[in-house]
Amino acid sequence: MLYLYKEREIKNLVDERRVKIAFIGLGRVGLPLAATLADAGFSVVGIDINPETVSSVNSANTPYADEEGLDQTVYKNVVTGMLSATSDFSAVTEADIVIIAVPTLIRDEQPDIEAVIKVAGSISPYMNPGKVVVLQSTVPPGTTEFVLGEIITKNTSLKAGRDFGLAYSPERTQSPQVLKDLKTYPKIVGGIDGKSTLAIAEVYATFAPSIIQMKSIVAAELDKVVENTYRDVNIAFANELALLCQLYGVDVQEMISTANSQPYCHILQPGLVGGHCIPMDPYYIISDATKRGFSPPVIKAARALNEEMFNTVAGMVENNMKNVTVLGLSFKPGVKSFDTSHTPRLVKKLEQKGCRVTVHDPFLGNDIYSFQTEPDLYQAISGADCVILSTAHAQYKELDFFRVKDLMKGNLIIDIRAIWDPDTVKVHGLKYKGLGRKFND
Ligand SMILES: NC(=O)c1ccc[n+]([C@@H]2O[C@H](COP(=O)([O-])OP(=O)(O)OC[C@H]3O[C@@H](n4cnc5c(N)ncnc54)[C@H](O)[C@@H]3O)[C@@H](O)[C@H]2O)c1
Repeated sequence: MLYLYKEREIKNLVDERRVKIAFIGLGRVGLPLAATLADAGFSVVGIDINPETVSSVNSANTPYADEEGLDQTVYKNVVTGMLSATSDFSAVTEADIVIIAVPTLIRDEQPDIEAVIKVAGSISPYMNPGKVVVLQSTVPPGTTEFVLGEIITKNTSLKAGRDFGLAYSPERTQSPQVLKDLKTYPKIVGGIDGKSTLAIAEVYATFAPSIIQMKSIVAAELDKVVENTYRDVNIAFANELALLCQLYGVDVQEMISTANSQPYCHILQPGLVGGHCIPMDPYYIISDATKRGFSPPVIKAARALNEEMFNTVAGMVENNMKNVTVLGLSFKPGVKSFDTSHTPRLVKKLEQKGCRVTVHDPFLGNDIYSFQTEPDLYQAISGADCVILSTAHAQYKELDFFRVKDLMKGNLIIDIRAIWDPDTVKVHGLKYKGLGRKFND
């Protein structure tokens, strides 16, 4: 009924926590947000198609052990009855607000929003008037209103902006630090009308440091993909600078830190791009804008250059070098997050070149990979012709280059994250190569 009340009444209902939430998709970003809402005093039922996730939550455990603080938040709120989980979508019936955080993907550079479409169908039978439906998943601009909203309308005859509220709120956080990010990043919301925006803004204001209310749903959808596209374009610029600096024999690291001393200059680091968001989100814009008749040249060129960097790095390995050790399997330092990493793609390029590749990562478990892994760092380096630093885990910063020189068969160190001082590496009789760092050649 929430949406059918006046704005002042909506505020009161939220203040008094008389608002029930159904949260669909208890994944890496969904469960921390659902638990945060329960912690803020709302009654939350999580709905997930994965029975293991449902039973884990109902046993007051989290399936995401690396998300700091999540186990305590889930435990506290399950025990007090504020958070529960189910696979039964009829739980939507009782909810005032339905929040959706199901996976969305990029396949062959095209968005796959199949899970959002499925959820629209699953909640439709339980959509009585007055609910506010909020999408959190990353999507092509227009999805909330013209896919999610329209499927509900087609199935129920209820109209968004008349019978139910509809809004988008981007998931700006990053796993495994979603709980922390939720309490430090401004939360963005954009609704189909003022009441939809207000309802979800009031709810998120119970934990977020500030709320930014955008003028439309599509503005909020676009904001999410713009943030990560900005980083992809900036990294592409840094990669281009690295290639330029190489021409002039200038160290790109010196160039970037000097340029960034100017207050308007914020150049990121060159390197390979991996992860759930930065290499994916630009495709949500590219594909949707292209359908609307505009093929965004800068965003496309940046994406293409960042992709080409896999060939550039593989090309830094000399042709006679067969045994290559790659350090780092995670997509970013300090976490075990391998599924969307850049490293397996680099390994593939090296294998295509005829290299035998061994991968080390301090977070390696017992999982089996399509490439050879070695959990002991110096064992992984032993016999290598070339060592490539792919992810800047803290453990690698203090590498013992005396030992490395002794263990390696060859002498090439490729540092694509610029974590080592080239002179220190060279002093040990090793050869150093980095992106945009022309030494030894
Ligand atoms: N992981 C991140 O760091 C991150 C950051 C920003 C944005 N996002 C975006 O957030 C969204 C969710 O990502 P995630 O990382 O939490 O995904 P995830 O794969 O960790 O979790 C998704 C959850 O949704 C459930 N699910 C799938 N289909 C469902 C359905 N039809 N009905 C009910 N439940 C269903 C799955 O069982 C799973 O528990 C995606 O759009 C992603 O792009 C993720």
